[in-house]
Amino acid sequence: MNPSVYSRYRTAFVEALAQALGVPASEIDSQVKPADPAHGDLSFPTFPLAKAQKKAPPAIAASLAQSVKVPGLEVVAAGPYVNAKFAQLPFTAEVIDTARSQGVRYGGGDQGAGKTVVIDYSSPNIAKPIAFHHIRSTMIGHSVANLHRALGYKVEGINYLGDWGKQFGLVAVGFQEYGVPERRKDMAHLVEVYVKANKRAEAEPAFDERARDFFRRMEAGESEALALWKEFRETSVRDFERIYARLGIQFEHMEGESFYQGKMEPVIDEIARKPGVKESQGATIVDLPYAENEPPVLLKKNDGSTLYATRDLAAAIDRHERFQFEKSLYVVATDQALHFRQLFRVLEAMGREWSKRMVHVNFGRVHGMSTRKGNVVLLNDVLDEAKTRALEKVQENIQAGKIQTNNAEELAEQIGLGAIVFGDLKNRRTTDYTFDWEDVLAFEGHSGPYLQYAHARTCNILRRGGGAPASYDASLLTLPEEQAVLRVIARLPVVVQEAADQAEPSFIARWLLDLAAEFSRYYTLGNQDRTKRVILEGNEPLKAARLALTDATRVALAAGLALLGIATPENM
Ligand code: ARG
Repeated sequence: MNPSVYSRYRTAFVEALAQALGVPASEIDSQVKPADPAHGDLSFPTFPLAKAQKKAPPAIAASLAQSVKVPGLEVVAAGPYVNAKFAQLPFTAEVIDTARSQGVRYGGGDQGAGKTVVIDYSSPNIAKPIAFHHIRSTMIGHSVANLHRALGYKVEGINYLGDWGKQFGLVAVGFQEYGVPERRKDMAHLVEVYVKANKRAEAEPAFDERARDFFRRMEAGESEALALWKEFRETSVRDFERIYARLGIQFEHMEGESFYQGKMEPVIDEIARKPGVKESQGATIVDLPYAENEPPVLLKKNDGSTLYATRDLAAAIDRHERFQFEKSLYVVATDQALHFRQLFRVLEAMGREWSKRMVHVNFGRVHGMSTRKGNVVLLNDVLDEAKTRALEKVQENIQAGKIQTNNAEELAEQIGLGAIVFGDLKNRRTTDYTFDWEDVLAFEGHSGPYLQYAHARTCNILRRGGGAPASYDASLLTLPEEQAVLRVIARLPVVVQEAADQAEPSFIARWLLDLAAEFSRYYTLGNQDRTKRVILEGNEPLKAARLALTDATRVALAAGLALLGIATPENM
């Protein structure tokens, strides 16, 4: 794929500046920044040159502006800066045509071609109540996977299910006490059992011991224990799969912690050779220089059973062997920061230089999340509730004559899920936020439904205007509002790159809000009463040009929403 319009102009500007200065382009590349919109598109500060050239920065800028000539760029000096502005033409036509010809792939590139990125995400625990942090991991991970795919990376998405560990013991012995046999395939029931068993184990050491013992039997490969485990696992996976299908998520691999059962001894042996292991109160720990108060990395408990860290070590090595990754990402809550720091440190101490290419893509907490059913948050319940609430709004809007649809249910599903996903992804992933149903579903706020509506509106304008034109005259798009919309559209490829590099879907979310805001300003231009729409007002050539811009906006909104994993209904 060709470089984006934006980066092509940027590169040309950097090269012309470098030539005028007689330095390699790489030397000044990082200094060329997006300009303050009032001054153009790109900006180069001359202060760093003042000393060597023994001239005042404004004088340097003035002479550079004279000698830097790039077709399609208007270059001017503004005080100590050399600014460049994309000329109305050919920029306008290039942006519109690129977006329209690439369709929903617009924003992508091929920077990742031939490289593999491993993304560990969602990774819920089986037979345990699902916490909202798994929903976050699911949505952030899905978007980070989409972003990398858009850039041409091969993505190996792994759902590393928490399907091994003492919690099975708890569910198993809990089931003997509280279980209703006919409900053994019901996820909600398993969760109830787990919650009761967990409480009891905390209060009653003998009960806790029974749970541990059950897990020991699983690790020893006892067939009866394993059969029960398998059944609980299937029930949970079935429940999760319904969610993944609703969200349009497919994992390349569903391999949880149990996948590494029986594969840990070679890893423990290797650690024993380098960096070494120690015994501590009967348990085996990695011999590392620990900071004061730092808990040690446990490989085996005193009863010989393995731990979360042991399995993650085996998994990391296995993933590197299988995928030869460029990056290996773990989309997991910030609470586990220490676990990942230690995991990477142990691998480094084992001489695995590739541990530097592993990243803990951490995220903060969500407050205020509960569902109508009570305090245990099941993933599906959250999505169901979102749909129910969206359906109320859809029906209100149908009654008010604001939308026409013959499938209110499907629309409500798209809006409800879009609301949850966007409500999460619009926040920088590391910040905590408070979940609020009204906020995420506000059709007129910074919400998923608002963006879906903006997209549907472009579809509607195109329908009313007789469809997107095959040809148009880009020179007619001279309104500042039109140029402002174009500039946001042009930025998407740059934003995709940054969002992928930093595993930060919120960059796309913010870009979407910018685009919707600029388009809305354009659309309502001079029509406070909203009776006359500028886009369909002009003569035929003007109308065609404006519809082409509307079409490019539609494509860009759809591409951005798809990167976040949000559906784009055409009618709402
Ligand atoms: N199942 C874990 C939890 O719920 C998350 C697993 C994350 N991935 C990993 N490789 N440790 O906390």
